This record gives sequence, structure tokens and C-alpha cells, in this order.
Amino acid sequence: MSILLSGRWEAAERDQWLALLRAALPEESWVLEPGPEVEAAVVANPPPGALQGLPRLGFIQSLWAGVEKLLADDTLPAGVPIARMVDPAMNEAMPQTALWAVLGLHRGFFEIQAQQRRAEWRQLAQPRAGEWRVLVLGLGELGGRVAQLLAAQGYAVSGYSRRPAELPGVRCLHGEAALAAALGEADTVINLMPLTEATRGFFDAARLAQFKRGAGFINLARGAHVVEADLLAALDAGRIGRAVLDVFQVEPLPAAHPFWSHERVTVLPHTAAQTDARSAAALVAANLRAWRAGREPAHRVERDRGY
Ligand code: NAP
Ligand code: GLV
Repeated sequence: MSILLSGRWEAAERDQWLALLRAALPEESWVLEPGPEVEAAVVANPPPGALQGLPRLGFIQSLWAGVEKLLADDTLPAGVPIARMVDPAMNEAMPQTALWAVLGLHRGFFEIQAQQRRAEWRQLAQPRAGEWRVLVLGLGELGGRVAQLLAAQGYAVSGYSRRPAELPGVRCLHGEAALAAALGEADTVINLMPLTEATRGFFDAARLAQFKRGAGFINLARGAHVVEADLLAALDAGRIGRAVLDVFQVEPLPAAHPFWSHERVTVLPHTAAQTDARSAAALVAANLRAWRAGREPAHRVERDRGY
């Protein structure tokens, strides 16, 4: 009986994962091709169909935090539990990236970089952190940590989630009416929601029109949350002051895409929070052992809600 490792990746990356997983779970036998002996699968957005026709498959562990591509595979066997990646390294990195981007917007550092290119010496207004309202959409593993770090730095933080939430120092909101009001007063909006049927295309022209004029937008979740043409129009109209984008509809971002050269867009190469294969392998080992022992694996995906 064996564990399948499957993903869309280069051989070197796959081999690194395989070595770490073998070391973390020496009692298991690992295979790279599907077969009737496979009992569990560890996957990184595997090709569609990779998990069908496996009669013994009892558990799927994703190496990605976001599982929208995995769930989009119509051949994914029904009823098999899926767990997603929640990695301590990622939990550390995402709040760092968010803090950097919020500081860049609040203190004008992105603008000052542009001034340097024009040899322009100009001091910008310096509002206090408590006068700068940040709205974090998605208060889960990553968004919750981002909101709390920003609150600890003195920012006026609101957070929005699907269900009611409570986080120290964060004004937690839910529901469409609360969202519209919060968008209208936020100086910076950060997206950290999962990509689901409810959140695909969330940031379209109508939503962007609810933003406070000139607000900053930071997208650290998925490119498909944003209607990119609408964001470009909102930037050009001054509705959105500046955007910091880590994720895009098409990745890598095509060379001809207007985001690359837009003077008020900062492009990151989907690097806001990378999984550290070492800590991630430890999580996979703990989850596979829990499943083998008949216990509930951590970070179970609820398929019908899409995350
Ligand atoms: P998570 O723990 O599942 O948290 C998701 C949060 O979003 C929850 O608070 C959830 O609300 C909220 N949410 C879901 N649907 C919503 C909706 N329709 N309206 C409002 N709020 C909604 O996920 P996570 O681990 O924080 O990760 C979030 C996303 O980050 C991932 O799905 C992935 O796409 C992205 N990501 C990006 C990178 C990167 O490098 N850029 C790295 C890792 C992950 P409830 O609390 O009510 O359930
Ligand atoms: C990265 O974006 C992930 O979902 O793990």
C-alpha cells in the first residue's frame, strides 16, 4: 500500500518534496504514478484526472493553501477527505508582506521610489498609523494573522469574513452592508479570501466603486478575485490610488500586460508567502499519521463551501 505524490512541477521540485516526505514518513511507501495500491495522495495542483479510478484512495493532502484548482477537477473522487496546507513559514511570511505593502502605501514609500526616478525631493504627509484604516478581507489562517499584526502596529484595522469572527484589536464585520460601509472608509484594502464561486470576480467595477477615493488595494490571494480590466480602469480614474498585486489571472504575468508598466501598480511574482517544504512536510506527516490512526486530519477542506 502506498502514498501517491502528484503535482504540476519540475522534476527537481518534486524530488525535493519526495526526499523530505520520505524522511518525515519513513514507514510509508511513495509512488509517483497512480495505481490500485494508492491509499492516500499528497498533491500540488495535480493534472485533472490524476486522482480518479483509485479504489483504495482514502485521503488527499494538498501542498497548496488555496485548493480551488484541485476542487475544479470534476473527476475528484467524492467523499474522500481533503486537507489543505497551513504552513508556519507561510503564516510568518504573509503578515510580513502585508506589513511591507501597507507601510509602502501609508508612508508613501512606493511614491517616493517613483520620485527618486525623477530626482524629485519631496516630503509626503505622514499620518499616524491609528489614522490609517486597513480593511482585511478574509480572516482565516493568513488574513487573521495579517489583521492582528497590523493592529499591533497601531493601524485602525477592520476585518471581513463570511461568518462572524472575533479577533483582538480588529473590528470584525460580516454581511454585504457592513462590507460596503467598510470599503468606503478604508485607506488600504487587503484581499486574503479563498477563490470560490462566491469570490471569483469579487473586485469588479461595482465593488471598486465602493472604495474610498484614492484607496490602496493589495491582492495577496488569487488573481481571479479581480476583474483586471476594471481595476485598470479604476486606477486610471483615480478611484484606486495604487495597487500592490501578488497574483494574477494568468501567471506568470504576460510580458505585454499593462500592470507591468503601470506607474501606480507594484507587481510581485506570486511570492507573498511561500510554503517551506521542510515545515510543510512535517504537517503532511502529522496529517497522514492522524488519518492512518483514524483521527481527523487538520485543516480539512469543506468541499461544498469551496475552501
Ligand atoms: P482560510 O484559513 O480558509 O481563510 C479564509 C477566510 O476567508 C476565512 O476567514 C473565510 O471566512 C473568508 N471567506 C471565505 N469566503 C468568503 C466570502 N465569500 N466572503 C467573505 N469572507 C470569506 O484561508 P487562508 O489559509 O487564510 O488562505 C487564504 C487564501 O490565500 C488562500 O485560499 C490562497 O488563495 C491565498 N494564498 C496566497 C498565497 C500567496 O503567496 N499569494 C499563499 C498562500 C495562500 P470564514 O472565517 O467565515 O470561513
Ligand atoms: C499559494 O498561493 C498557495 O495557495 O499555497
